[in-house]
Amino acid sequence: MNLRRIGPASLTRLLGAWRGEGGGPAYRRMADSLRLLILDGRLPLDVVLPGERELASALEVSRTTVTAALACLRDEGFLERRQGAGARTRLPAGPGERGQASLIAGSEAEGLIDMASAAPPAGEGVHQAYAAALQALPAHLPHHGYAALGLPVLREVIAQRYARRGLPTRADQIMVTNGAQHAFALMLRLMTGPGDRVVIDHPTYPHAIDAIQRASCRPAPVGLPGEGWDVEGVAATLRQSGPRLAYFIADFHNPTGRWMTPDTRAAIVAAAARARTTLIFDETLIDLGLEGESRPYGFDEPEEGLVRLGSMGKTFWGGMRLGWIRADVQTIQALAARRASLDLGTPLLEQLAAAHLLADDAAAIARRRELLRARRDHLAAAVGQAFPDWRFEIPEGGLVLWAELPAAVSTALAATSDRFGVRLAAGPRFGVDGAFERFLRLPFTHDPEVLSDAVARLAQTYSRLRPGMAPARAGTVGALI
Ligand SMILES: Cc1ncc(COP(=O)(O)O)c(C=O)c1O
Repeated sequence: MNLRRIGPASLTRLLGAWRGEGGGPAYRRMADSLRLLILDGRLPLDVVLPGERELASALEVSRTTVTAALACLRDEGFLERRQGAGARTRLPAGPGERGQASLIAGSEAEGLIDMASAAPPAGEGVHQAYAAALQALPAHLPHHGYAALGLPVLREVIAQRYARRGLPTRADQIMVTNGAQHAFALMLRLMTGPGDRVVIDHPTYPHAIDAIQRASCRPAPVGLPGEGWDVEGVAATLRQSGPRLAYFIADFHNPTGRWMTPDTRAAIVAAAARARTTLIFDETLIDLGLEGESRPYGFDEPEEGLVRLGSMGKTFWGGMRLGWIRADVQTIQALAARRASLDLGTPLLEQLAAAHLLADDAAAIARRRELLRARRDHLAAAVGQAFPDWRFEIPEGGLVLWAELPAAVSTALAATSDRFGVRLAAGPRFGVDGAFERFLRLPFTHDPEVLSDAVARLAQTYSRLRPGMAPARAGTVGALI
């Protein structure tokens, strides 16, 4: 097997503020931070770490500290010693082998409250939509059922939905995908090659960063300022790095919940056009504005160069695995031609169910928002009370609070929270190079009692925070939806 290596400088950046604050032996803190990097996917599996001497010098610690930290992770099954070579990352082969597949639902089964994923349960009407889809299915059974671009009826319904929001759209501008993440991966395949840069907000959705890196591209992060977007910074990055793609979450940004004004959108669209960069707006969260009505599209759309990604995931249910791409017809055709090497279309039953839901979704969306608004307010009050020195804005929309902690302890918190029955996503998961160690993303997707319980468990973790503590169990790996 051809193993990837990570250099000492990259690993140091990923580790960020691993020393945290407070006591505990340094080797324990280092082991905790490395373990978390492996568990949440920032340090992929089958990656070879630098040698002990190199690592000690890069991290400015004694070789004994590094040796003890790596030995600890080897004992726990997170590293494998290789004869005469650096240790390789792996997962412990515990009872029931923690495979990737079981991981998302896994936390709840173990009595953990999952505060790492921001995905609500199925919304109203989802079950009935599947029943209606089953009824419609027989008409499709005589045909082969493959449709690389999606069922015409669903493409039409999606196009009409854009038109209702003020963006005239034809069905041939839509491609149905298996979720927004799949849509983004398809765009990366179409538009980029190894080494290309992709501009992102910083922080941003972690799996967007993963997709960019897995496509062998380099994220070009533009930091989000205190409010809104740094239009100058975006324009300068576009100008200087000549990226093929730029990816923004303009509608209830994950993780900050911000909404981009039409003027900012227009300025960014213009800057991207000047740089000949294709702009992607990920609209996965667009229906989850928690203040006021849905906002119409409010600026002059360019004919080309702007691609929108949509999803059923947060508005209705992540389990549908259904999303779409809206782009110019040429881009849609090119995507269809590329798609076959990856998959041959989206399951038909899901498409029929989605068409049913999207054809008349206003009431269901209004109730979804109402429910989420109450949960947001509940979580904000509970966090405000339990942690008076944490700072956060009440998000305008989306599914999460993005809290700033008084100290750089996010990784230490996430690394030990399992012990107290709550699974957390550390702030650095939302950025590159170890940024956001002072931040924690807290979803308000659970019902209020669970949220209160989660905050109580978090308070226990926080009050006993000693960065040297190891988690009680191996933790869960992978997806942070
Ligand atoms: C901004 C953003 N994009 C994409 C996704 C993934 O969407 P899907 O489930 O449709 O693949 C998520 C899920 O959390 C998200 O927050």
